[in-house]
Amino acid sequence: MSKTLIKFDNITKRFSLRKGDIVAVKDFSLEIKKGEILTIVGASGCGKTTVLNMVAGFLTPSSGNILLDGQPITKVEPRCGMIFQNYALFPWLSVRKNVEFGPKINGVSKKVRREESAKYIEMVGLKGFEDAYPGELSGGMRQRTALCRVLANKPDILLCDEPFAALDAMTRQIMQQELLRIVNESGQTVLFITHSIDEALILSDKIVVMSVRPGTVKEIYDIKFPHPGKVEVQLTDEYLKLKRQIWSMVEEEVKTSMNIVSS
Ligand SMILES: Nc1ncnc2c1ncn2[C@@H]1O[C@H](COP(=O)(O)OP(=O)(O)OP(=O)(O)O)[C@@H](O)[C@H]1O
Ligand SMILES: [Mg+2]
Repeated sequence: MSKTLIKFDNITKRFSLRKGDIVAVKDFSLEIKKGEILTIVGASGCGKTTVLNMVAGFLTPSSGNILLDGQPITKVEPRCGMIFQNYALFPWLSVRKNVEFGPKINGVSKKVRREESAKYIEMVGLKGFEDAYPGELSGGMRQRTALCRVLANKPDILLCDEPFAALDAMTRQIMQQELLRIVNESGQTVLFITHSIDEALILSDKIVVMSVRPGTVKEIYDIKFPHPGKVEVQLTDEYLKLKRQIWSMVEEEVKTSMNIVSS
């Protein structure tokens, strides 16, 4: 886990609005290693989604470069796979067709598409639901389809913007374990955003706390809990201590951001 996959090199992102400019992200520098799960936490509006959108190439930094495998990201990046909170599935396509959509656009033959989609559908536990439409699935199943669809494109990095926030607590926990299992199997690099410190602690190799807007890296925590069976880890003193530490840091930022809003 030593090669750098993503490098943020002193990124600033400014948005021009009618009432003036707004600096969403400032002097943001960070490295994500290959095979690592890195989670960003921080107050609402601190620039997390902006950071993710710049990696995906949906937004361009105002200054600084984001390097993917040493190359600057200059356009919508096919090597990045994005998972959104609201699933972003095509409702008129079946699970299988949703999963095969990206490979089809990329010219993968029907035979290979079928084989690969079957593999990924099985991996996320949706075997038997290949012909179901998103409207016929539960929230957790929809999010698993979305995950599967992104994995089928074999992205270099999985970008997740609060993907489990809309799920009930139990399904969310199962999805976290599923994601860990899949990542362990595939060595997938993941950049994950969440408001839940527990989720961050369970999933991550590294947690980055962002400051309030303009968002910058405030603190980086290396998480050393063993990957499988992380649920039990939540009861240990070490876990609770780290959770308290990260929470107090995030709380400070949330309070600051609220003062900014109300002043
Ligand atoms: N396209 C845009 N045009 C103008 N301003 C924007 C745009 N996108 C984001 N912003 C502003 O940039 C700041 C950061 O927004 P961003 O969505 O990145 O925050 P966030 O950390 O993801 O928040 P949340 O936790 O609520 O999702 C906010 O002040 C927001 O209003
Ligand atoms: Mg956001």
